[in-house]
Amino acid sequence: MAPTPPAPPGNLGDLGDLGGILPVTSDLDAAGRLRVGGCVLSELAEEHGSPAYVIDEAGLRAQARRFRDGLAERWPASRVVFASKAFPSTAMYALMGQEGIGADVAGPGELAMALAAGMDPGGLVVHGNAKTDAELRAAVDAGAGLVVIDNADDIDRLERIATAGQAVLLRVLPDVRPDTYEAVSTGQKGSKFGMAVEEAAGAIGRLRASDRLRLEGLHVHLGSQIFDPAPWEAAVARIAALGEFPVYDLGGGLGVRYTYAEHPPTVEAWLDALAGAARRHLPATSTLLIEPGRSMVARAGVTVYRVVTVKRGEPTFVAVDGGMGDNLEVSLYGQRFEAVMADRPTAAGKPVELVGRHCESGDKLVSAAPLADPRPGDVVAVAATGAYCFTMANNYNGALRPPVLFCRDGRATVVVRRETLQDLMRRDTWSAS
Ligand SMILES: Cc1ncc(COP(=O)(O)O)c(C=O)c1O
Repeated sequence: MAPTPPAPPGNLGDLGDLGGILPVTSDLDAAGRLRVGGCVLSELAEEHGSPAYVIDEAGLRAQARRFRDGLAERWPASRVVFASKAFPSTAMYALMGQEGIGADVAGPGELAMALAAGMDPGGLVVHGNAKTDAELRAAVDAGAGLVVIDNADDIDRLERIATAGQAVLLRVLPDVRPDTYEAVSTGQKGSKFGMAVEEAAGAIGRLRASDRLRLEGLHVHLGSQIFDPAPWEAAVARIAALGEFPVYDLGGGLGVRYTYAEHPPTVEAWLDALAGAARRHLPATSTLLIEPGRSMVARAGVTVYRVVTVKRGEPTFVAVDGGMGDNLEVSLYGQRFEAVMADRPTAAGKPVELVGRHCESGDKLVSAAPLADPRPGDVVAVAATGAYCFTMANNYNGALRPPVLFCRDGRATVVVRRETLQDLMRRDTWSAS
């Protein structure tokens, strides 16, 4: 399998492997400070505060086009649908829409944001294993292109709610277990998502007989952060046995390079595997959909933090002004990240424990991070935080959720502002009087 291509030569000097993890536009200014999208990270932290999510807009657009064009080359009748759970903000939906990409929405907020951002409702794919009447009604009223049936209750509900001809897909549980974290593995028997193959056959019969719902095809999603694309072969073969349909949605799941040690397949290798499986098992006339989330946005993001304290010893703890309030991936799955000093970037510093400010020992950002002499006040950047970190940001210890800065050609645009103390108390109805 083709390894992740190396960073474009020259833009990060001799920073070695860092170039394969940081956003693609990363480079150093004349003073050796790290830039993303032409913006100096430490200057962003100074101007906008920290922590802050910095997004490489050009890198993100390039990745969107890589998926879109790569899939179209391999399977012309195809559509890329961004799994918006990976980064649900109006700016992100708008950008995806501009790049000709649809959105997978799995909840009323995601649907509302996609519509508010001006996305074409026809390009929306509505997911969820527990969709309420209200959510289904909102999807139908919005004109959502596809609603994905997860269970028999979805069929009951949607038959009551849908006006004639709502297009649907059926999510099938192919009983394929990819090699990934248990919490994000969804294709195996026993998963709460979708219908087992035997049950799916009955649901297909029911949907085909419906005069309110139009069964367009089948959907599978095997999980997330998957490095070996082989399980898609088995999954596609399983769903192919259920009959011929005009549409097949093969979900997301391509793994991302978070650390120096990891080497996920390239987008192109993943697309080769999916299109190859489709060619072997699915009708040549069918339309193919994919739903990349993590692999679409992870690399475009870095989070900038400021060092608050350094406790020297064995080990040395470097505590920053964020942590599990803005990055839950570490405590949820044990995901490892890499970190770098924004103004003294090197992949070869003395290992320290980079920890957050929250009241749990598990609130670590990077264990044994090779940081070059971190001191209070320094800015540290954690790489590959573009996926699911903004999504799962929370108010633990009253943390104010960070802003999102889209950076491009040396200009930073605040597309989500930092939360304020007023925001934090806005929903409280208790009053002192
Ligand atoms: C239905 C569905 N599609 C796509 C995705 C995106 O997966 P990933 O972010 O790993 O590409 C998910 C998330 O797990 C999902 O639940």
